[in-house]
Amino acid sequence: MQSLRPSHSIKSLRGFQFVRYYRSRGLSAMNPTSDHSSPSDSHGKHPRKLIFAPGDIQAPSPDEKPTPTKTSAAAPAPVSRLAGESLRSETSTPNSVSEDRVVSHAARAHQFVTNPPLTVSQMHPTNPLHQFNTWFHDTRLPPSSAPETCTLATASLPSGRVSARVVYLKELDERGWVVYSNWGSREGKGAQVFGGQEDGDGVLSAMPVPGEGMPQGNKWAALTFLWSGVERQVRIEGLIEPLSREESELYWQTRERGSQIGGWASWQSKVLWSAEPDSLVERRRKSLAQDVCPRSEIPGDVNETDIDDGRALLEQRVRDMEERFKDAEKIPLPPFWGGVRLVPESVEFWQGRRSRLHDRFRYVRVPSDGDLYKWRVERLSP
Ligand SMILES: Cc1cc2nc3c(=O)[nH]c(=O)nc-3n(C[C@H](O)[C@H](O)[C@H](O)COP(=O)(O)O)c2cc1C
Repeated sequence: MQSLRPSHSIKSLRGFQFVRYYRSRGLSAMNPTSDHSSPSDSHGKHPRKLIFAPGDIQAPSPDEKPTPTKTSAAAPAPVSRLAGESLRSETSTPNSVSEDRVVSHAARAHQFVTNPPLTVSQMHPTNPLHQFNTWFHDTRLPPSSAPETCTLATASLPSGRVSARVVYLKELDERGWVVYSNWGSREGKGAQVFGGQEDGDGVLSAMPVPGEGMPQGNKWAALTFLWSGVERQVRIEGLIEPLSREESELYWQTRERGSQIGGWASWQSKVLWSAEPDSLVERRRKSLAQDVCPRSEIPGDVNETDIDDGRALLEQRVRDMEERFKDAEKIPLPPFWGGVRLVPESVEFWQGRRSRLHDRFRYVRVPSDGDLYKWRVERLSP
């Protein structure tokens, strides 16, 4: 079993070029349509844009003439990654004049230029898991970019309603991709994947154990990795199976104690608190008007309108769990928490190329003799 790199925090990327562009024209960055006599609102025919092609646009400098978008083979010079980051807009609602200028700018369409062409000769001849392993360990992917970050998509039955969330890949072995989570709450992915019985708290009492019969649920899922620094994407589709409790326990014991307590304390995805529409607006108005507690007496780091928003309930649960396990040297694996493996039916490797003519190779699982299976390799149209 392959152990992956440790998790790293996510870097936030923001640029302010577009804000500066508006300011230079005496417009408000938060309301860049403010030079318009009739800005559209969200009920109008043209709802206000809050983000407009972020990352794609290099706003022209005030003196710069717009360059028409090139469609010929002589493509515009690539925008460097650093430049690309600085081009991201914070918020933008271009008016018709600025929209024309921006849309016609040469840097309008990001071009994928990092890699040489991807040919089938570079793909592992028999096994997409090995191919994934090679791409995952590409030295151009720094640990700080957290290449283990991926999106897991699952769907409810019978509605077909899909949900997706970011998770960390923790293991890859010859059978598939392993992620860990809480599968216990009816509100989250657990009920979609495992269905199953719930106890009085609306919590699925335990993860199923391999070989002991699977509860109802939709085992189809997809996992997607984006490695934008190397202009690659990997998409895996397949069936989810639970790890054995021993395997999950092994990983659980590597987690720090605080995360273990957190794992026990959280009824993941259960609603802790909610506010009916508009009630928060009223509440804020009251809190600003009230004179029972003068504003000067409210500590600076406390927003009085947010005191009772359900966090206290979670923190009480944490204290309860700390008390429950105070004498335990090892905190046990919660029955509702553990690893699942996505066993692939298809795996696609995508590499960006100029003019959106990307290279895509997909491995599709085909039956072979006995219990064995093999992989057909296909090139897909971009
Ligand atoms: C960068 C990042 C990594 C995450 N990693 C995990 C993870 O490994 N396991 C997990 O259960 N949730 C992880 N989460 C939280 C999930 O996105 C999600 O909120 C949680 O699993 C609840 O999903 P559900 O309501 O569909 O059950 C991560 C979130 C982010 C932003």
